Amino acid sequence: MNYKITGGKVLLRENGILKTDEKDLFIREGKISFRPFQTGEVFEGFDARGMLVMPGLVNMHTHAYMTIMRNYADDVGFSEWLFKRVMPVEDSMPREMAYWASLLACMEMIRTGTTCFVDMHMYHRQSPMAARDAGVRAFIGRGLVGEDLWEEGNNRFREALEEKAEFESETLQFVLSPHAIYTCSPNLLTQVAQKGRELSMLKQIHLSESKTELTDCLVKYGKTPVRLLWDLGFLDKKTILAHCVQMQGDDLDLIHESGASVVTNPASNAKLGNGFAPVQDMLDHRVNLCIGTDGTASNNTLNMFREMGLLSLIHKGIHKDPVALPAQTVLDAATVNAARALGMEGSLGVISEGAAADLIFIDLNEPSLFPPNNIVSSLCYSANGSEVSSVMINGKFVMRKREMLTIDREKVYAEVQKYADQYLVKA
Ligand code: NI
Repeated sequence: MNYKITGGKVLLRENGILKTDEKDLFIREGKISFRPFQTGEVFEGFDARGMLVMPGLVNMHTHAYMTIMRNYADDVGFSEWLFKRVMPVEDSMPREMAYWASLLACMEMIRTGTTCFVDMHMYHRQSPMAARDAGVRAFIGRGLVGEDLWEEGNNRFREALEEKAEFESETLQFVLSPHAIYTCSPNLLTQVAQKGRELSMLKQIHLSESKTELTDCLVKYGKTPVRLLWDLGFLDKKTILAHCVQMQGDDLDLIHESGASVVTNPASNAKLGNGFAPVQDMLDHRVNLCIGTDGTASNNTLNMFREMGLLSLIHKGIHKDPVALPAQTVLDAATVNAARALGMEGSLGVISEGAAADLIFIDLNEPSLFPPNNIVSSLCYSANGSEVSSVMINGKFVMRKREMLTIDREKVYAEVQKYADQYLVKA
């Protein structure tokens, strides 16, 4: 279906600066256009009066299946969190659980204005099935661990390639996803880098998340995790680095020179006691900065509005500088910077001629946004996600006037509750 969207305030960028303008949008075959429909073109009208029409947010790092463990292992030490709570559940859960938990994740993301996410998962086929059924744009990777991609019994890489062959589409792409430098050998990371070049695929990895990861790496390899990846030929502009909390020496120079992107996860890093990424330093080094929520077991939401506000406030506080991380810098990180990291610059995260119609409609009459003195500020500092009224992805409505169109909410709740009752370890 084509749509004519009328009466809304549209968030546009002019010479890199965000501004709003009242104008009509014409959605043709999943793409945004400012060119009116001609006689004979069939379209449906959508009244956006009282709404801000803006690009959907991009959650650049999460583990969708983890919604099953929301608020299940909080206020406990990291090793209890990981080894006694999270991992036993992950190991015992049947694969189908991940489908329902990932659909729940998609529902929460749509509800709070995220139209695209980058996922690292561990249950074959479930995450791509959920993203496809929800109609959400996603970049998905089967988590990889171990010594060698080709060793007998290492089926994860085979699964990763099978998912790509089965599900790749206009809205679903696939990312090579080695878990971390402490769960993957240098040999495996080199193999992944080679495969990435061969298949022209994006790569993602958790990097320098904790002090322990950094000190262990210095002891084992005599270099920082960033330098290790640099030396292995892993870093390039198709590389997405989640966390990067512990940066040392010339780490940020190497990241900048390689063109790799960093995803900061402020809530997860704070919650797990890992600290704060040097985000201001990253910006000073002209590193492409994006934002992720991480999984719900370590956040505990997938709400990018909360993540954006938190990011700005944390860094203003740390630097004792009210000018640090201004609203537009944060919004850029959640939109255009993400598009650059995903190789979709100009066609994602922006309202422009020919860009993908991934749009969110924000109700400007919600009390949290009123009066609309400065809309860009309000998106970073006042919005809590509940103001999102309608969501369109690739030209299709997935939520309209707060009604979910692609997901059966009651069915998802029933299934997720069933697995939670059966498999979560009671404290
Ligand atoms: Ni993660």
